[in-house]
Amino acid sequence: MKIHRRRVVITGASGGIGNAVTKALAVQGHELLLCGRNSSKLNVLKDEIEGNGHQLLTADLTATAGLKALFNAAQAFEADTLINCLGVNQLQLLAASNAADSERIISTNLLAPMNICRTLLPLLQLKPSTIVNVGSVLGSIGCAGSTLYCASKAGLHGFTEALRRELADTSVTVLYFAPRATDTELNSQEMQDMNQQLGNKTDSPEWVAEQLCQALAQRRQGDVYLGWPESLFVRINALLPNVVDKSLLKQLPIIKRFCQGTTSAPQTAGEHHEVS
Ligand SMILES: NC(=O)c1ccc[n+]([C@@H]2O[C@H](COP(=O)([O-])OP(=O)(O)OC[C@H]3O[C@@H](n4cnc5c(N)ncnc54)[C@H](OP(=O)(O)O)[C@@H]3O)[C@@H](O)[C@H]2O)c1
Repeated sequence: MKIHRRRVVITGASGGIGNAVTKALAVQGHELLLCGRNSSKLNVLKDEIEGNGHQLLTADLTATAGLKALFNAAQAFEADTLINCLGVNQLQLLAASNAADSERIISTNLLAPMNICRTLLPLLQLKPSTIVNVGSVLGSIGCAGSTLYCASKAGLHGFTEALRRELADTSVTVLYFAPRATDTELNSQEMQDMNQQLGNKTDSPEWVAEQLCQALAQRRQGDVYLGWPESLFVRINALLPNVVDKSLLKQLPIIKRFCQGTTSAPQTAGEHHEVS
């Protein structure tokens, strides 16, 4: 089968999932415009991957100047695919967060991908193109300790679904790609320890990248949720949220303990902790 060689803009290329996606796409012969704020990480990555036509853009994509630089670079690069892999996260109870936390998480995880799609749309609409917004299963299952992150990803899910429908009569396909916990620097040590204690499975970024590449090759549209049973919980949560409420209630003491930085194992099964 002949592989269509894409010209891919990857935001968050210097991150764990972006790095793995970059490497997997480069092996398949696609040409890449790698974006992030950390130029040394991007340069190391460019030197590691196969192919000669790759380019770099160092920019903060929450800023207007960064978006302008992205447009210029993507236009010169003649991009036909956008993969939004940038993101930030923080394990925190809402009561312990402040307005700056909300601003940082919403502007990076929601406003930036929205503005990036808007900025690149005039280029992408010139030819058959693909947009992939990397969301999270937490965009469809609200969880304690992740209120701001869940809000940002739920917003990204709604945005991506609406955009897909808005572009249904064009040659731009739109995919919302939602991993579960993945082993990258996005997750603090506390978050990793909490996931382990909760029995949440964690995927490797390489496996996540493989799934994303497959979805691209198959020209998937709509939503792709990774992992079992998380992908089932997404459906149950949509239909029977009370069932998920009950299940997540059992996890609440552990989540609160990790959010409060007291990570020792519970003393008794019935122990209850309140947010102070
Ligand atoms: N890891 C998980 O458990 C998990 C699970 C589900 C979904 N996801 C989603 O997958 C995506 C990738 O996550 P990851 O695990 O690879 O995270 P990561 O390793 O922390 O990487 C995050 C990336 O975002 C970039 N970034 C952050 N703020 C930026 C800004 N203002 N402008 C430009 N780039 C910015 C970072 O670039 P610089 O460092 O160069 O600034 C970095 O490349 C995110 O959307 C995340 O929400 C992750």
